[in-house]
Amino acid sequence: MTAQIIDGNALSKQLRTEVATRAEALKAKGVTPGLAVVLVGDNPASQVYVRNKVKACEDSGLHSVLEKYEATMTEADLLARVEALNNDPGIHGILVQLPLPAHIDAQKVIEAVSPAKDVDGFHIASAGALMTGMPGFWPCTPYGCMKMLESIGYELRGKHAVVIGRSNIVGKPMALMLLQKDATVTVAHSRTQNLKALTLQADVIVAAVGKRNVLTADMVKPGAVVLDVGMNRNDEGKLCGDVDFEGVKQVASHITPVPGGVGPMTITMLLVNTLEAAERASK
Ligand code: GUN
Repeated sequence: MTAQIIDGNALSKQLRTEVATRAEALKAKGVTPGLAVVLVGDNPASQVYVRNKVKACEDSGLHSVLEKYEATMTEADLLARVEALNNDPGIHGILVQLPLPAHIDAQKVIEAVSPAKDVDGFHIASAGALMTGMPGFWPCTPYGCMKMLESIGYELRGKHAVVIGRSNIVGKPMALMLLQKDATVTVAHSRTQNLKALTLQADVIVAAVGKRNVLTADMVKPGAVVLDVGMNRNDEGKLCGDVDFEGVKQVASHITPVPGGVGPMTITMLLVNTLEAAERASK
């Protein structure tokens, strides 16, 4: 069997068209959805990410502002900027790009963002809302994974999903979203013993570790759905995920590529969350 590719670019295009339509409807009511992206320091990867986020906003008719600060910015100054954005009626979503310089307490900054504008879904209020099934903002990467499963009409109820990785940004929220759809969820991580025994039982596998070849063909049950959240470089310097794509695609029923899979979906869900924040604020 050769797996069907779940094309994150194609799905993003479709969802971003819907975002643009909803943005137009809001603008007709005099509200332009606005996202503020805050970057502190000159991390090269972060610079690329924020550029892509701002461009995606422009392409979908959302207003965006990029605030760039020196790596020497104090925590107090950053907290003051976040507070000003919380109080800015033209801004509906606030994203502080991580990682932050070591002298700044990232958690403190995340908690300073108003939960109503927490389009990253990183605030503990957002995490608590996800955990209890209350309305809130879902972290963009696992949210994008759920949309990818939805796009292939996948019924999660009663299925076994194995999430590899337990980060606050991907693994843990991913597990909660899958659970909310009635999947049986196993969370594996760096201390897990005999990962292969678990993944071989899985109907759905989400690899979110940040290490190449964490999942190989011998670890996958025939017909499983495989989502690859990894973003790594191979020996030739080319972008690759956590999954041995060439091997696993011979066994899985569906698989996401890297690049062109989960990556574009993360930005798409940021646009969706920003639009949602603006719609809620204008009600
Ligand atoms: N750094 C890497 N990914 C992300 C993300 O999704 N949001 C923020 N704020 N920072 C990141």
